[in-house]
Amino acid sequence: MKILVTGGLGFIGSHTVVELQQRGFEVLIVDNLSNSSLKVLEGITEITGKAPEFEKTDLRDKSAVSALFKKHKDLDGVIHFAASKAVGESVANPLLYYENNINTLVYVLQELSKLEQANFIFSSSCTVYGQADELPITENAPVKAAESPYGNTKQIGEEIIRDTTRVNEQIAAISLRYFNPIGAHPSAAIGELPIGVPQNLVPFITQTGAGIREKLSVFGNDYPTRDGTCIRDYIHVVDLAKAHVSALERLLKKKSDSNYEVFNIGTGTGSTVMEVIESFERVSGNKLNYQIADRRPGDVIAAFADTSLANKQLNWKAESTLDEAMASAWLWEQKIRN
Ligand code: NAD
Ligand code: WQD
Repeated sequence: MKILVTGGLGFIGSHTVVELQQRGFEVLIVDNLSNSSLKVLEGITEITGKAPEFEKTDLRDKSAVSALFKKHKDLDGVIHFAASKAVGESVANPLLYYENNINTLVYVLQELSKLEQANFIFSSSCTVYGQADELPITENAPVKAAESPYGNTKQIGEEIIRDTTRVNEQIAAISLRYFNPIGAHPSAAIGELPIGVPQNLVPFITQTGAGIREKLSVFGNDYPTRDGTCIRDYIHVVDLAKAHVSALERLLKKKSDSNYEVFNIGTGTGSTVMEVIESFERVSGNKLNYQIADRRPGDVIAAFADTSLANKQLNWKAESTLDEAMASAWLWEQKIRN
């Protein structure tokens, strides 16, 4: 079985390629290297003993996408990670986000709509829920008005897939709504490579621990939560990667209840920012330098997943603890600093 992984050199894509190869799938990675490096190929090869096929292609180029599918007629599935993902950047440059996250999706789906049968997995996000009224969040929770162009691209992306699969019934699709992916492969051969100042909590913590950042600002400690800081569902990226293999197997075995399904992918447990800091201090043995700062605009108070649908239908469950995920993030940070 051969799977096209777009954005397969990125953070989540690279970990998914490893899991796919370890489960015997052949992988074709397509990436434009806009937020990744060719070195990731070496890391994947180091872990799996096999170099995946790689093509440098920008999926915003419609004719290049057409040529890709003409050349590779033997694909059994597509996992579409390629997108831009920085929330702040999307506010500053919305058209970049609409072009990169929407056009690439449309071009790939246009190619799939020409095939007799196609399997497609889309990277969606818990950001589509905004501040949910009920916790934990089920897939039935309403999609709230997006806080950013980035978030909007995930909502629109899901709608595009829903509308397409309604008429192109030969496309079987699954959107996975990821909660907060963190960590790295336990081998420390691949991990997250934030460019510039990290916007996300865990890479900011590990960079502070490594002395690259002076201190972490905790964005608000006056929220109505157990210690006043925001709550999120932090999931080990390896668990998240495995969820893709489970979703792919559901599609390949034609077990889906309908040709478009949506699943939450999280641990089901919420952690506060302070609990994440404590986890870092436990696994690293270092005190973290932090200060309490103002709330960050757009932050939701609390979000964590009801994962029962994915647990049952995908036969998948997140296995790693927050400490295990944090330990892997810290090991990776130390490796890249050396
Ligand atoms: P990432 O930036 O590490 O990976 C994305 C990869 O896609 C990069 O290697 C980049 O070079 C490539 N890419 C981007 N635009 C491309 C294009 N036009 N053509 C070809 N390749 C292109 O991001 P990630 O964290 O691995 O995220 C993967 C997916 O998951 C994205 O769709 C993202 O929106 C989604 N997601 C991420 C998170 C998160 O917190 N990391 C949470 C929810 C959803
Ligand atoms: C987590 C918590 C911050 C940094 C973002 C995107 C979302 C999704 C995942 C893709 C929050 C606090 C953070 C810092 C802090 N991505 N924090 N100091 O906000 O849940 O989601 O990434 O789809 O779309 O919005 O994750 O890691 O940025 O923040 O106190 O320096 O850490 O306030 O409570 P978030 P995050």
